[in-house]
Order: sequence, then structure tokens, then C-alpha cells
Amino acid sequence: MIILGIESSCDDTAVALVQNGRKVLGSLVSSQVKLHRRFGGVVPEVASRKHLENILPIIERLLRETKTSLNRIDAIAVTSGPGLSGSLLVGVNTAKALAYIWQKPLIEVDHLAAHIYSNFIEKKLPLKFPMLALIVSGGHTELVLIKSRTNLVVVGATLDDAAGEAFDKAAKLLGLGYPGGPAIAKAAVMGKVDPLPRPMLEQGLNMSFSGLKTALGRAVGSAKKSALAYEFQEAVTDVLATKVTRAIRRYRPKALLLAGGVAANKVLREKLKQIAKKHNLPYYIPEFKYCMDNAAMVALAAYFLGRTDKRGWYNVEVKTNSWKLKYESRNT
Ligand code: KG4
Ligand code: ZN
Repeated sequence: MIILGIESSCDDTAVALVQNGRKVLGSLVSSQVKLHRRFGGVVPEVASRKHLENILPIIERLLRETKTSLNRIDAIAVTSGPGLSGSLLVGVNTAKALAYIWQKPLIEVDHLAAHIYSNFIEKKLPLKFPMLALIVSGGHTELVLIKSRTNLVVVGATLDDAAGEAFDKAAKLLGLGYPGGPAIAKAAVMGKVDPLPRPMLEQGLNMSFSGLKTALGRAVGSAKKSALAYEFQEAVTDVLATKVTRAIRRYRPKALLLAGGVAANKVLREKLKQIAKKHNLPYYIPEFKYCMDNAAMVALAAYFLGRTDKRGWYNVEVKTNSWKLKYESRNT
């Protein structure tokens, strides 16, 4: 079974072909980083226009490069949210049009679920539940308890900025460029600096990063840029690591997963590795190339979350509960 995945929730236009939920036949990402760099962040209107230009040529390129004819594709999967609405619209409408013209089933995939599945690309799926996932990207910071394959519950989240967004804003304050995560990681060198706060460290599973950014803004000029970048990275990863430890104690998961663009951060990868080791938990991190937005994770998630019945394919229900998202499936 071959699924064509389409991802356009933020600033990357991505397409992929995945066979039997495991083998990536091809995965292409057209990044808009250069386009948005001069604005210091993603401009939604610019992103959706660029998706529109990119989407059909990149699908054509994928089919050409993988020498895949249409009749070999069994279904089309697309990220339907959460994300920038204009950007999502391009991917979803393209997928719907192709599904209609090519007469293929359409599977809508939740972006967070897709990030979780980025851990299992070309790997065997573990089936021990519950698992705990930390999803950290430019738009998301969520602790998700995976109770079963189709039952994901957000048990903690940021109340304001996402972790990646905090990195991006901090890099802007330090004049380090965009995207901020890799820029801060590269610039960071331990040095003499007053400690930055670790917001909301003492209790609960929710997080807050906007105050940390304000504190960094005040500290700019008081120490070397490299030392401030180091301390900022330490502060964010300390908060994330503490929340993960608390969630492990509370929910006793059978595995720990990390996903999202910030999962590319080596300090965070290492801190969570130590936590997993201490609690004797299997630890999953996506390959670097699958941390950032991509469509292989979308096609993979569709394979495991999609279901067939007499209506054809359909996807799991996603329920929203204010800022706290709750994912529950009708069929669990
Ligand atoms: O998952 P992603 O590609 O897009 C969203 O769904 O948001 O994540 C992009 C985010 C950006 O905020 C970027 O600064 C951050 O991931 N990021 C990093 C690193 N690489 C990317 N943050 C910290 N350290 C990194 N090495
Ligand atoms: Zn993402």
C-alpha cells in the first residue's frame, strides 16, 4: 500500500510517498526559510502564496523522481491542522482535488500526530502503551500521553509562546538571525552570565516561555552574546526536561518520544536521553531530517490512523478543548 503525503501547515511545502507505513520511497521538502528570513519569522500570507506556487510542481517532481505511476498510489494523506489557515488550505484543497480527479481515498492527518509518527519512519512501531511524547516546534509545545494508537491526550502545553518560537524570538533579540533554534545552538558557549528564570518550574505540566524572552531582552548587553545564547538554551531545555520528568512520575509511561523542529536541539536530545535512562524507558528521537516539517510523517501517520469501512477511508476524530487539545478516536 502506497500513500502520498502532503504537508503545508507552516512554511514548508512537503510531499512524500511511503509504502506500508514503513518505507520512504521519496520525500521532498521545499523550504521557505530564505524567503521569510528578511522578515525575521514566517509571514502567513507570503507562506500561503508560496505553497500555491510550489505544490503541484513538487508533486510532479516526486512522482517523476520515484518513477511512480498514479495507479500505484492507494491513498492521499494531508495535514488538516493545526497550522496557519492559509497554508493549510493550499495543501488540503490540493489533496481534495487530486483525490477527486484520481479517484483515491483522502485521509486527513493531525499535525501533532504526524510529528509523533516521525519517530517511527523506517522503524518498527512499538506497541506498549501508554507512551509519553514531547512535541516541540515553532508552533507547538505539548506533552502528549499516547494511551493507544488512536487515543492521544495533551496533558501539558505552553500557555503562551512555543519553545521554537521562543528560540526564534531570542535569536532576534540577540541579532543571530532566523530560524533561531539552530542559530542559538551554534552561537552558544558557556560563559559568565546572570542566570535567566526557569518559568513555572515548580509545579504542573504546563509551560510558559514569554517571560523568559522578556528577561533575555533585559539581559542583552550585560554579557557576551554567546553566553546569553547558552544560558537561554539551558533555561528552555531545563524547563522541558523538568516537565517531562514530572509527567513520567505522574503517568508511568512505557516509552519516551521527542518530536518537532526543536527535537533537532542536541542539548535537549541529550537531557531527555539521560531522563529516559534514569527511568529505564525506551527513548525515541526522529532522525534530524524528519524533525522539521515533512510529509513522510504525514503519510506514515495516515497509514496507522486511517481506517477503512464501507465508506472507504476515514481518519480519527480530533476534539478541541480550548487551548488544551484532546484527541480521542470514535473507534477506541
Ligand atoms: O517542526 P518545525 O519545522 O515547524 C513547526 O511545526 O513549527 O519547527 C521549526 C522550529 C523553529 O522554531 C526552529 O527555530 C526550531 O524548530 N529549531 C530548533 C532547532 N532546529 C530547529 N530549535 C532549537 N534547536 C535547534 N537545533
Ligand atoms: Zn511541525
